[in-house]
Amino acid sequence: MTDIKTELSNYSLRFNQQAEKMFALPSGPEKRVVEAMKYSLLNGGKRLRPYLVYATARLFGKSFEDSFSAAASLEMLHTYSLIHDDLPAMDNDDLRRGKPTCHKQFDEATAILAGDGLLTYAFEILACSAYDDDIKINLIKLLSQNAGAFKGMISGQMLDLYAETVKNPQNPTELISHIEEMKTGCLLSYACQAGAVIGRADSSAYEALTKYSRCIGIAFQIADDILDIEGNQQLVGKTLHKDSSQNKLTFVSCYGIAKAKDMAKNLIEQAKQEIAVFGEQSNNLKALAQFIIDRTY
Ligand code: IPE
Ligand code: IPE
Ligand code: MG
Ligand code: MG
Ligand code: MG
Repeated sequence: MTDIKTELSNYSLRFNQQAEKMFALPSGPEKRVVEAMKYSLLNGGKRLRPYLVYATARLFGKSFEDSFSAAASLEMLHTYSLIHDDLPAMDNDDLRRGKPTCHKQFDEATAILAGDGLLTYAFEILACSAYDDDIKINLIKLLSQNAGAFKGMISGQMLDLYAETVKNPQNPTELISHIEEMKTGCLLSYACQAGAVIGRADSSAYEALTKYSRCIGIAFQIADDILDIEGNQQLVGKTLHKDSSQNKLTFVSCYGIAKAKDMAKNLIEQAKQEIAVFGEQSNNLKALAQFIIDRTY
């Protein structure tokens, strides 16, 4: 059996080849925004979210091609969230995926538009996909909710910024759970739910994958917070030690590094149990869960 890192990098190669074809450059000067979108999307990235769409859909006999539109649209949306997260008005980062951030490589206005462009393109891809209409509508609904401002990624990002400005939040542990569930967990949850929707999973399979996704979502952000402290910048591809310098509320700032690691480990054990019903077929998803906390990038 190939190990999960190899499987993920094989998937990334295939994903990138397909994704590259989706950026026909306009001939006029407006092509700059498409170049910026393409730069940010194709410059590295683990492709964890699209892989999750693929791997969960595969549980129900679906192929790479079957899952690709949902996978690509999610990675577009995720990349938009990174471009905007890096902007000077947000986390003000210079390095992303080992390269200059979009606003450093291009300029701030172009980066804002490139984020907008990827967000819009995500929904265009779904709307124009070959999925049956009921699946298409369900994917569009779930993606907009999970990425949105009411209880999705945008609300998590708003709370993340809010928490920076508050010296002693009233209930920091509750607030941090909320932030990490929403800013990161929601898109990882969507990835698994999308695979289940494409595969026409029954409600118990859908439930099991949703529970798995909630556990890995929080664990993923805890691992990101730990990498910000303990990581190797070359491998992580982002400027490190940013969270403490920007007064970010994280699981590590709330609980300390040892307890945060313990929490992530428990969440991953729970995630593996949630998908035990799929037996050996879910071995790659179990290995992926483990990779989420063992990763160095
Ligand atoms: C980074 O996500 C942003 C977070 C939600 C923590 P990833 O670590 O998945 O970033 P890429 O896609 O691999 O660059
Ligand atoms: C970003 O969280 C989450 C989203 C982009 C939605 P972080 O701010 O911790 O991500 P990094 O560390 O910059 O990748
Ligand atoms: Mg941020
Ligand atoms: Mg950031
Ligand atoms: Mg981070």
